Amino acid sequence: MPSLGLRKGNIIDIESTAKAIDNCLNDLERLTGVPIYSTIAGFSGTSISAINNHAVVAVGNPNNEITAEDKERVIHSARNVALPPDKTVIQIIERQYIVDGYDGVKDPVGMVGSRLEAEVTIIIAATAAIQNMQRSTQRINLQLSNIVYNPLLVSETVLLPAEKEMGVVLMDIGAGTIDISFFAAGSILYTSVLPVGGEYITKDLAIVLRTSLEEAARIKKDYGIASPEMADSSTLIEVRNIQGKEVKQVSQEVVSEIINARVVEIIEMIYAELNQFECWDRIPGGIVLTGGGAELAGITGVMEKYLNVPVRLGVPDNLRGIPADFSRPRNASVLGGLVYSAKNLEIAYDEEGQGLTSIFNRISYWFIDLFR
Ligand SMILES: Nc1ncnc2c1ncn2[C@@H]1O[C@H](COP(=O)(O)OP(=O)(O)OP(=O)(O)O)[C@@H](O)[C@H]1O
Ligand SMILES: [Mg+2]
Repeated sequence: MPSLGLRKGNIIDIESTAKAIDNCLNDLERLTGVPIYSTIAGFSGTSISAINNHAVVAVGNPNNEITAEDKERVIHSARNVALPPDKTVIQIIERQYIVDGYDGVKDPVGMVGSRLEAEVTIIIAATAAIQNMQRSTQRINLQLSNIVYNPLLVSETVLLPAEKEMGVVLMDIGAGTIDISFFAAGSILYTSVLPVGGEYITKDLAIVLRTSLEEAARIKKDYGIASPEMADSSTLIEVRNIQGKEVKQVSQEVVSEIINARVVEIIEMIYAELNQFECWDRIPGGIVLTGGGAELAGITGVMEKYLNVPVRLGVPDNLRGIPADFSRPRNASVLGGLVYSAKNLEIAYDEEGQGLTSIFNRISYWFIDLFR
């Protein structure tokens, strides 16, 4: 579904963003026969950044049993970072708790100790970017039940628990942005969003081949290869000019040279970012690629060659009942959103406490069935 109101992952036009969401929901309602009132939104954009923070509290209870209230206090204190007024916290990820010096605790409630520490990753974004998203959904009366940083959705369906534990980089290559996230010890540690993506390659192809963006995108998808070494010089591709009338021919090799130049440039930006994360010797899981941009033929090989770490495609495969041709890198965030929602789903009871209402019944059972 084209979303014309977005640029580099940021909303630049609320009206057309709202319209794009509405069209998409209408299609989905027609397809499933289920009315949609609320949604979780996967959020990204160049304003995203992450802060790692740490806090300590003394356990309140005289018998040293840690309560939910202690946990709440330590998280409250850990999320208390000074932010410029135009930034806002969108998510707090509880990485681990430390009880009397013993680390690796996932949930301290009920444990005994006198000193409780929390380590968290705080995801922050531009306040305006969040408000623009809220405005877009309000315009079509869609309730935003939760805003989740996109890579956390993606990670649900393409990363193995062992990879997240040992260290892995997840890279979601979208149209206008690339989300890069480093996971280790089971959680996201560092993340940033680059203002480039597949569109950057398409635009350059359109300029060099003197054609439209639509034609360039088609050529990239059908014939594009990330490395000229893999291209066939005898394969000729028909290219229409901007007016859509005249047709000329270019070889696949020439097309892939144009693509390769941009891919290498993007990889250099990625390299600089990973240097900032200081994660090179901490990623035995290598790099996992998702998003439509990851579907460019040969991209894993080129990236492996330049970065000298294993690179694989993130294909969502922990879901049942999803057609194989939908389980692709570009759908990782949508499918990850399903898994995330299913894990965090609150079962809705109707007023008489008579169990589930019928719509919820259908959706939640489908969700639960999906990933068990
Ligand atoms: N087979 C393919 N080969 C090469 N590129 C592809 C292929 N399929 C999709 N793309 C590219 O992937 C990009 C879209 O990816 P995706 O759907 O993940 O983006 P998005 O989530 O809409 O964008 P963003 O994350 O930036 O908001 C486009 O640039 C498109 O040209
Ligand atoms: Mg995306």
